[in-house]
Amino acid sequence: MLVAPSILSADFGNLARDVAAICDAGCDFVHVDVMDGHFVPNLTIGPVVVESVAKVATKPLDIHLMVEDNNFFIDLFAPLKPEFISFHIESERHANRVANKIKEFGIRPCVVLNPHTPIESIEYLLEYLDMVLLMSVNPGFGGQKFIPNVVEKAARLKDLVLRKNPECLIEVDGGVSDVNVGELKRVGVDIVVAGSYVFKHKDGVGAAIKSLKV
Ligand code: DX5
Ligand code: ZN
Repeated sequence: MLVAPSILSADFGNLARDVAAICDAGCDFVHVDVMDGHFVPNLTIGPVVVESVAKVATKPLDIHLMVEDNNFFIDLFAPLKPEFISFHIESERHANRVANKIKEFGIRPCVVLNPHTPIESIEYLLEYLDMVLLMSVNPGFGGQKFIPNVVEKAARLKDLVLRKNPECLIEVDGGVSDVNVGELKRVGVDIVVAGSYVFKHKDGVGAAIKSLKV
């Protein structure tokens, strides 16, 4: 399992320290949650802060947009050269166009599905994607409870991916911990995002990341 700690649960007063800590501890990606206060009822960080994160990070960035205007935010974040930019299917009328735009920047496109959004909604998009992110909480906040039916959804997505685009990765985000990572692995999930579990682990970020690498 690849692990992408979400810096939403980091100490923003010590962001450089916390980003360095997860990279030194062997995470695979640094997950950055961008919220616009419209698509989700919360606001986070923009390119000025993420540029500082990118300077400290020794692992690639995984930027998760939770915004209404995907084009606007892609133009802001693409110059930081993240590995992935993820956008929500629920906020995009022209998902194929947006995926291709991300690819033209040399960045790997990913589409995100909210917990209630069926995988059939991306059946004809999968072949243009490098990753699909399944939300296992309602987006907007860290520290929420894992919605268990995402496991069945991931298993069904895996079947679809194998038929349509076997190279496409599956990521799960929200409420992930050592309790549910095993079942996610079993159904074919490649990357887990974990915020509060990693940054609030009693034995530190290193122990947390290690426990997710199943
Ligand atoms: C939620 C974010 C997540 C969040 C995960 O909207 O997309 O990345 O930070 O936090 P935990 O792991 O605490 O649920
Ligand atoms: Zn996220």
